Amino acid sequence: MIDSPYDEIGLRNLEDFLLKNYGLRVKPDELLTLLKFIKERAKLRGIPVGPDTVDNLLKIPEERRRFVSLITNKESSFFREPAQFKALSDLIFPELLKKRQPLFIWSAGCSTGEEPYTIAIVAKETNTPVRILGTDVDELALERAKVGVYRSWALRNLPTHIRNKYFVQVSEDEFQISPEIRQMVNFKHHNLISQFTPHPEIKLGWDIIFCRNVLIYFHTEIAIDVFRRLHSALDKDGYLFLSSTELFFGQLAGIPSERLNNIFVFRKAK
Ligand SMILES: C[S@@+](CC[C@H](N)C(=O)[O-])C[C@H]1O[C@@H](n2cnc3c(N)ncnc32)[C@H](O)[C@@H]1O
Repeated sequence: MIDSPYDEIGLRNLEDFLLKNYGLRVKPDELLTLLKFIKERAKLRGIPVGPDTVDNLLKIPEERRRFVSLITNKESSFFREPAQFKALSDLIFPELLKKRQPLFIWSAGCSTGEEPYTIAIVAKETNTPVRILGTDVDELALERAKVGVYRSWALRNLPTHIRNKYFVQVSEDEFQISPEIRQMVNFKHHNLISQFTPHPEIKLGWDIIFCRNVLIYFHTEIAIDVFRRLHSALDKDGYLFLSSTELFFGQLAGIPSERLNNIFVFRKAK
């Protein structure tokens, strides 16, 4: 696959670029595929092949957007890990509401919106006043999130009455989330590696942060660092959700998870 003297430099540049800018670990065969993509795009843009091809191509915002969209895994669905949302409605919302209203909730690495919209549905069903922010590094995913159209596969965990209540079928296999849920979520571009918290005006910190199935793609040291920052961005007694397969990041960061019925969450004690 390495077919020019610049490919090795290109691969190294690409690896550095992914790690520095997005914290991402990429396997050698994936790197080669990415390099091939970069060379094709550079050719289309008339950028000569050389040691700076990667840098020069990714200076073009449109190319950078395309590239970020290509390297990130966007797999998501509504009510993914349903037990977490049950805990949200039955335990966490009632407890936090005694302290503050509305609740500030951040879905970090929200992909095409399934996670923040699930939180909005739970809030609507429980009459919980919330402000929800969904952020992602992939601007193309955020554009799709704002439109809110999903294949039935993404809706597979939804109880039928919720599906009928909050979705409208727009084609044979596509469903759009209702405007009342859509307007409950704001979306914003945000990179967890280079930016701290997307809402500096929230002085007390977030009441609830979801960052699920995101850290797992980062280099371990970077994931631990991001985990610590997320935890420190919580308000006192706030909750941080990771996916159940990512709980070990808490242990590595020296912040143990707590059991809440049949799920594990992280809390901010002070
Ligand atoms: C597998 S999806 C997870 C979606 C959702 N949280 C869930 O669990 O269903 C991972 C998301 O993390 C985003 N992501 C990757 N690196 C990121 C970064 N550095 N900053 C913010 N988001 C990032 C990706 O673009 C992708 O949308």
